[in-house]
Amino acid sequence: MKRILILNGPNLNLLGTRQPEVYGTTTLADIEQMCADKAVAMGISVECRQSNHEGVLIDWIHEARGAFDGIIINAGAYTHTSIAIMDAVSSVEVPTLELHLSDIHTREEFRHISYVGRVAFDAIMGHGADGYPMAIERMVQHLG
Ligand code: DQA
Repeated sequence: MKRILILNGPNLNLLGTRQPEVYGTTTLADIEQMCADKAVAMGISVECRQSNHEGVLIDWIHEARGAFDGIIINAGAYTHTSIAIMDAVSSVEVPTLELHLSDIHTREEFRHISYVGRVAFDAIMGHGADGYPMAIERMVQHLG
């Protein structure tokens, strides 16, 4: 059975009430339930984790080596700043998919740079909460 680690970065614990005009009203708990349902439907296992701390996300990426077949990461604002998260993904050589609720390329210019995108095999963005099950499908397709 394929094992997928889904990582959510800073401020995503506030989904539901955080800028609903940008991110929607679905909570992180709802999204985690959507991911669990999708995993059952696809016959795979998923584990969802969220942290507001860069180093914790890096430790989890390291842990993924040998324990998970793929990583789906919404690194939040660290997407645009964290060379350390980019290096962690490169170091562990676990296929990684970039995910965002909003379309970062149609927002402020500072969001157009994605360090995660440099090391991810693909990106899903602009689909709100629905992007999570879409990302699981894309990952399963990629893993073959
Ligand atoms: C985000 C987009 C980022 O630019 C932002 O900092 C976030 C959320 C998204 O899911 O759309 O925290 O990753």
